[in-house]
Amino acid sequence: MSRSSRIAGFYNQSVSARVGLLEAQSTLSEESSKWLREGGGLPLAIGDKMSENVVATYGLPFGIALNFTVNGEDVLVPMVVEEPSVVAAASNAAKMVRASGGFVGEAGPQVMTAQVQFDYVPEPELAKARVLADKARILALGDAAIPAMVKRGGGCRGLEVRVLDVENGVVVVDVDVDVGDAMGANLVDTVAEAMAPEIHAHLGGDMGLRILTNLPLRRTVTVRCFVKDEDLGGAHVSEGVARASRFADLDVFRAVTHNKGFMNGLDAAAVAVGQDWRSIEAGAHAYASVSGRYLPLSTWRRENGGLRGEAKLPLAVGTVGGSTRTHAGVRAAFQLLGAKRAGELACILASVGLASNLAALRALSTEGIQRGHMKLHHRKDELERAAAAAAAAASTQPTPSTPAPSKARLETKEQDVVR
Ligand code: MEV
Repeated sequence: MSRSSRIAGFYNQSVSARVGLLEAQSTLSEESSKWLREGGGLPLAIGDKMSENVVATYGLPFGIALNFTVNGEDVLVPMVVEEPSVVAAASNAAKMVRASGGFVGEAGPQVMTAQVQFDYVPEPELAKARVLADKARILALGDAAIPAMVKRGGGCRGLEVRVLDVENGVVVVDVDVDVGDAMGANLVDTVAEAMAPEIHAHLGGDMGLRILTNLPLRRTVTVRCFVKDEDLGGAHVSEGVARASRFADLDVFRAVTHNKGFMNGLDAAAVAVGQDWRSIEAGAHAYASVSGRYLPLSTWRRENGGLRGEAKLPLAVGTVGGSTRTHAGVRAAFQLLGAKRAGELACILASVGLASNLAALRALSTEGIQRGHMKLHHRKDELERAAAAAAAAASTQPTPSTPAPSKARLETKEQDVVR
């Protein structure tokens, strides 16, 4: 059975009924179904192996963004985020985009770059020529260090030498490695360390760092979508979003907030599928300023009775390795999402970013962010009061009782949500 991301009334169901609706899509393994049925989480014994000095595990809500179609496929997008309204807003915007065919994405080759640093290189330009003359052999040394990846079709793709400071002989060697469906940090670091002694023999000087760059410019993803005026709420709404986009083009203070709204959705989905969100964030914001001026990662322009949205950014994400091996929730998230290849995952994550961004700009340029947002915050405030009361009751201190929030008051409709 193929997956449908349009599940009407999902938000109105109980948690257990929502899990049932996901199970009905037949994409979940027994293990994942059990994980969801038991409320998710991470066994302490596994957490203890994932990190150090562990004393507990720590929970966050695991929600599902609906209505996403990416490159013609329906995808259920798991999101892990503490901020109210991110999941509902992304679902809302995806519904508007879905009416015109959904998101279309294109991921570049899955090439990561490692850097090897040298200082005090004598005659750096001559030394650079010596490295380039031996390029094929140096790349072969890198490939020899990652035979399994080479077997799967990946491996070293190229090498560049940049002289950063002639006077102090500061030279960096950038090595491009196709990492297939892995995030690739360990692979490129292994390659950098394997090649470094040979490069050092050519350059002389003092060897420094051997590490990936978190700005993988060769590993970018581009996503586009179109929304009709009528699906967005009218031509005046499209015009407001386009004006908001132009504001971000012109002003760094707005561009950074625009990008934060874009990353709201992308990060939440990335966390659910166990990605290194710090590296994603570092790369995204560096890319935003790579021209010398910090710019928005996405743009919205008026076109043919609607809005055309587009975003481009580097995304180092993987569908194999990392926490896919250790965390049952990550495995469940991948089964819901259905992405098998790193490029597919990148297209989906960037689409979620574009949806979050559209939802935020639509709300901001019409009624403002506060109405829908505050509704959800009230819901959270009530929960906070209930949690504080429960904590107080658990202690021996007598405390004034706080009523638990009623289900009716906690219920939020998708259309109430503005971001
Ligand atoms: C809040 O998490 C995100 C927004 O500030 C994004 C934006 O201003 O575009 C609403």
